[in-house]
Amino acid sequence: MEQTKKVLEVRNLTKVFGNKQAVKFTAVDHIHFSLYQGECLGLIGESGSGKSTTVSMITRLLDATEGQILMNGNDITHLKGRKLREVYKEIQMVFQMPTESFDPRCTLGDGIVESLRNQGLSKKDAREEGIKLLKRCGLSEEYFDRYPHEVSGGQCQRAAIARALAIHPKILIFDEATSALDVTIQKEIIDLLRELKQSNQELSILFICHDIALVQQICDRVLVMYQGSIVEEGMVDEVIRNPKAAYTMRLMESVL
Ligand SMILES: Nc1ncnc2c1ncn2[C@@H]1O[C@H](COP(=O)(O)OP(=O)(O)OP(=O)(O)O)[C@@H](O)[C@H]1O
Ligand SMILES: [Mg+2]
Repeated sequence: MEQTKKVLEVRNLTKVFGNKQAVKFTAVDHIHFSLYQGECLGLIGESGSGKSTTVSMITRLLDATEGQILMNGNDITHLKGRKLREVYKEIQMVFQMPTESFDPRCTLGDGIVESLRNQGLSKKDAREEGIKLLKRCGLSEEYFDRYPHEVSGGQCQRAAIARALAIHPKILIFDEATSALDVTIQKEIIDLLRELKQSNQELSILFICHDIALVQQICDRVLVMYQGSIVEEGMVDEVIRNPKAAYTMRLMESVL
């Protein structure tokens, strides 16, 4: 079945910080996991466990010290230049602080239009498409011409999701994208992600979050990271009901 296609796979992925002079620190320690087409995979773990470092290697903001990253079976670990940019059209990220990911001098619409123009759309078509994307993410047309400081955190996060969708990504990565929002707004963003998933069965999501309860609302499977290693992996409900690793048990206790 298509559902089992691996869109992303990491093998032995490792990041050691520090050079010869500095003390070395292994932030990500030989991890393996796969993201399947159409699934939402959660990645949880305490602060400093290596979640963002893992994502930075996947998105190539950081070079891996060891290991491989495969997209649709192709090794992309060492791609550079144009080939790398091609690949990264397929992966989009949404970060924790939405206002910081927008240029304060540009409107929310400008950011979206820029990506659409790069794909060859005319100015008029890009504006129309941008408005459509904002609407799809729950923002009316008037938000198109607003600046990041003129909207709430939740609205800005919706615009960030709209901007990510403009690239037609196959993989969306959310790194604590709901953590800065209050509980009601978190719920709205989760509902939006659910809708996006339902309307695009091929979209795969990697959802990084501290909160297992949120992960349970949106994710099918979950990975638990502790001190750079993946200590547990499984269906979310199963992991919550029956945590195997000692660390996961502690994590559940602190939440429940
Ligand atoms: N550029 C760097 N140089 C040295 N150490 C780093 C660097 N970036 C991250 N680290 C360290 O690597 C470890 C993992 O950091 P990372 O940001 O991946 O954690 P995280 O799981 O995303 O945490 P949080 O939940 O707080 O976002 C931390 O101990 C951090 O201090
Ligand atoms: Mg992080």
